[in-house]
Amino acid sequence: MDVSVRDAKAHDALLRSGPLIPPAPKVHPRPLAALPFGDLRIAWEMSRNLVGAWAEADFDNLIIPFRFMGQPGLVVSDPAGVRQVLASPNFRRPIKLGRPLKPLVGEGLLLTEGETWKRQRKSLAPVFTPAAIGGLLPHFVAAGGSLADRLTGQDRANLSEAFHHATLDAVLRALFSRRADREGAVLAEIARRYVEGPAHFSLLDFAARGLDDLTFVDGERRRLGSRWLAEVDALIAQRKAGPESDDRPGDLLDRLLAARDEDGRPLPDQEIRDQCSSMLAAGFETTSRLLFWAAYLLARDPSTQDRVRTEVLASAVERVNGLDDLKAWPLLRSVLFETLRLYPTAPTFGRQALADETVLGHQIPAGAMVTISPWLIHRHRKLWDEPTAFRPERFLDQPHPWGMEAFLPFGGGPRVCIGAGFALAEAQIILATVLARVEIGLADDRPVIPVASITLGPDHEPDFVLTPIVQARP
Ligand code: HEM
Repeated sequence: MDVSVRDAKAHDALLRSGPLIPPAPKVHPRPLAALPFGDLRIAWEMSRNLVGAWAEADFDNLIIPFRFMGQPGLVVSDPAGVRQVLASPNFRRPIKLGRPLKPLVGEGLLLTEGETWKRQRKSLAPVFTPAAIGGLLPHFVAAGGSLADRLTGQDRANLSEAFHHATLDAVLRALFSRRADREGAVLAEIARRYVEGPAHFSLLDFAARGLDDLTFVDGERRRLGSRWLAEVDALIAQRKAGPESDDRPGDLLDRLLAARDEDGRPLPDQEIRDQCSSMLAAGFETTSRLLFWAAYLLARDPSTQDRVRTEVLASAVERVNGLDDLKAWPLLRSVLFETLRLYPTAPTFGRQALADETVLGHQIPAGAMVTISPWLIHRHRKLWDEPTAFRPERFLDQPHPWGMEAFLPFGGGPRVCIGAGFALAEAQIILATVLARVEIGLADDRPVIPVASITLGPDHEPDFVLTPIVQARP
């Protein structure tokens, strides 16, 4: 029997008798490393799906030493170990992991290191304070409204595509005060082609020695990357050339143009371009995936969907004036957290030891890799009750036994996602707007299996059935 059909039946049976157990890729009964040609099998599985190589035992062990392509490494899921690794200056992002991103983000915050990263992070910090994000909410409300308008009157929709467009729209409005029109469509098309193709970690990436090694064979990455950067350059030029308007809410580009380095100098043009590209690349795909998975889970769990709708209808999006107004939607926020737990859009990241280190008694020689996988940690049997079940209420019942330490969709330590507050505010507003207008269901019950390259996407984009919400007149 086809695995997906078997999974569908298993899920439906569970749906009837308990919480929803949403679909996930097959977990291998034995570690692939223990099988003949283990390294090749792992590399092959991971090049197809970064979360497709885990074995049953990995969900029981908090620390797993490994050897891959002759190099020692450690998978760390223990919260204390994760904290140590993410906080320590003795670990850095592995250079190779940046290879698929470099053509899109250049020398922006995502990939810089050392003093350059410190300077960049400091100059970008004011762009992401709660007050600054509060000022961006009108952009998110506008993006949510235009998505809901587009969906109105449709009885079926590809919400993956729709959220892709909406989050690009939101980030373009927040960055450049403009909607996703022609340039938005071009950027969306490049991003889509990139995510489907060159974003996947390739066997070549495993073999390369650094960010810029063997890139002459990465033709598609370089071609799409330079088109992407050219579009961003054009957007900045247009926005700079456009008339100033007092009634325009401030945007991220205003803040980047106003940012000064320690010597009081404005940021160089190329850095502004690379930071904008980083925000676009890091910001819209991740948030669109979060919205897609949240919609998928709510479509599979109609009673939770109804309860969230009651919440958002009681305190309408139109009343949102500041970040505090989002507190009126605690269940919606918990649904987004539970979505990020089950389907972390950045499902795995790593660190490389710069010097010999010891983590929870395990020696890590300089150069060795540490894998930190939110996918694994969030489904770990020692860290979560019913780890594979969709139970958003678990985030209402704080404190969690592990605090939030076993929950790291946005990473941790000094390189924690700078856009977390931005993404959560945006996702709450867009999802609330959609749920207030339409009920969402799935057109068929084929399970959607998560597939990870840079982000965690669906193996196919299901059609959603939309039913308009008729609100009683006051
Ligand atoms: C659901 C949405 C998002 C998720 C799950 C997410 C996840 C992450 C994670 C896990 C990291 C750290 C990776 C590591 O430590 O190696 C990160 C870093 C980063 N994120 Fe996000 N992100 C999201 C949205 C955003 C948004 C909206 C923006 C910008 C507008 C953004 C900008 C960045 C940047 C610039 C970094 C690098 C920070 C640094 O190295 O100092 N992200 N993100």
